Amino acid sequence: MTSTSTRDASSWRRGSLPKARFFHPAALQIDVFTLLPHAFSWLTEQRPLAAVLGSELDLRLWNYRDFTPLTGGQVDDEPYGGGAGMILRVDVVDAALEAVYGDFGSRRIIALTPQGRQLDQELVEELAGEEAFTLLSARFEGFDERVVEHLATDAVSIGPYVLSGGELPAMVVLEAVARRLPGAMRAESAMYESFSPSLEGGLEFPQYTRPAEFRGWQVPEVLLSGDHGRIDSWRREQSRERTLS
Ligand code: ADE
Repeated sequence: MTSTSTRDASSWRRGSLPKARFFHPAALQIDVFTLLPHAFSWLTEQRPLAAVLGSELDLRLWNYRDFTPLTGGQVDDEPYGGGAGMILRVDVVDAALEAVYGDFGSRRIIALTPQGRQLDQELVEELAGEEAFTLLSARFEGFDERVVEHLATDAVSIGPYVLSGGELPAMVVLEAVARRLPGAMRAESAMYESFSPSLEGGLEFPQYTRPAEFRGWQVPEVLLSGDHGRIDSWRREQSRERTLS
């Protein structure tokens, strides 16, 4: 086990927080704790996030390393009992949360882990309706279990497979939630997308664009007919078929 010496965690105070990458105050406030804040830049430069940042969404990216009470910027350690890989330490995550929130009693703090509740559109809608929440990412072998048990309020997985960190899951949650915020998308594209009430929670119908015929592959005739009634019933039928199959 690597030995570590500690520094007084209370030396981090609200007024003297290390620099996070800030966007402006807004209706929904999301904090992401990660070892790779720079990995999120491309996402924040693209729609839908770019469209809502500074208006509907206030996103802050925090680096655990800026808060670690351990020397040399250490944030992880070897697993007790042996085994491969490094585990993100509970004292490091606690120091980061404490420095940013002080008392974080009422805030929803979500640990991203393959053991969590699987993300679906229902959970996305739930999160988009919050005033604020926090995403905790780990790298490699994940969190010390005490993070999930005692510091997080929720554990969320983006699917039944294992990734090497929580950054991609955090981006998945961010993008899925950002799309649900006002102004992220044109109203009509949100209306008929998969899992929306207008498709009774089903999958979206197939979409086509020009050319109408390519290598003999034809766009369904009904979509070229200009008959909006027929187009609408065809799309609903396609959505139902896709959802049931
Ligand atoms: N970290 C590693 N794999 C993950 C997954 N499937 N979902 C959320 N976080 C993870």
